[in-house]
Amino acid sequence: MTRRLRTAILISGRGSNMTVLIEAARSPSFPAEIVLVAANRPDAGGLARAAAAGLPTVCVDHKAFGGREAFEQALQAELERHRVGLVCLAGFMRVLTPWFIERWPGRLLNIHPSLLPSFRGLHTHERALAEGVRLHGATVHFVVPELDAGPIVAQGAVPVLEGDTPDTLAARVLTVEHVLYPQALALVASGSAMLANGRVALTQAQAADAPGMLLNPPGP
Ligand code: GRF
Repeated sequence: MTRRLRTAILISGRGSNMTVLIEAARSPSFPAEIVLVAANRPDAGGLARAAAAGLPTVCVDHKAFGGREAFEQALQAELERHRVGLVCLAGFMRVLTPWFIERWPGRLLNIHPSLLPSFRGLHTHERALAEGVRLHGATVHFVVPELDAGPIVAQGAVPVLEGDTPDTLAARVLTVEHVLYPQALALVASGSAMLANGRVALTQAQAADAPGMLLNPPGP
């Protein structure tokens, strides 16, 4: 069997995306192995879920450090200690500085709850409803210093339905996130998708089958 890429997941909250990544990586044929779950908040619910799954966890509490730089150095030290080769942000709510991001070129992924480049930043579901878009969704992208602006690996779309609230729309987007993120991680960890000249290049086998998905509206 080929070597699986040692992967860390960074979280700040409940960790539902973390959970699906852990589940996917249980399969020995999955190209990434989850070797660490790290949180920046001691109350992140996902920490207990990761520990229950038998994974090493660590909390690098950002409040315990004098500034972003010291916090990120501590985080980087944990990643190095666990010999991590790829990092997945999954509901990680700290903006990372260029110092940290530049240490992980083509090896730092994030999932964002919108079809980027629409709706970068926070409150994506409220803003999608306010704009009246008919399709919304999620994006997995490489992280670059500009917020939510990195090269796109995969996207999934959902319809916006009459009567949607931010909560109902968020729930529909989340179902797509949970399929999309494991797919995107597999693409990157296997080398089928990689960062090249500021864009995501796909191997020939993948290029015929563009990474993306469309969740159909619920039937009548
Ligand atoms: C997800 O919607 C993700 O796209 C966003 O934060 C949320 C995290 O949810 N970045 P969870 O902690 O994975 O359940």
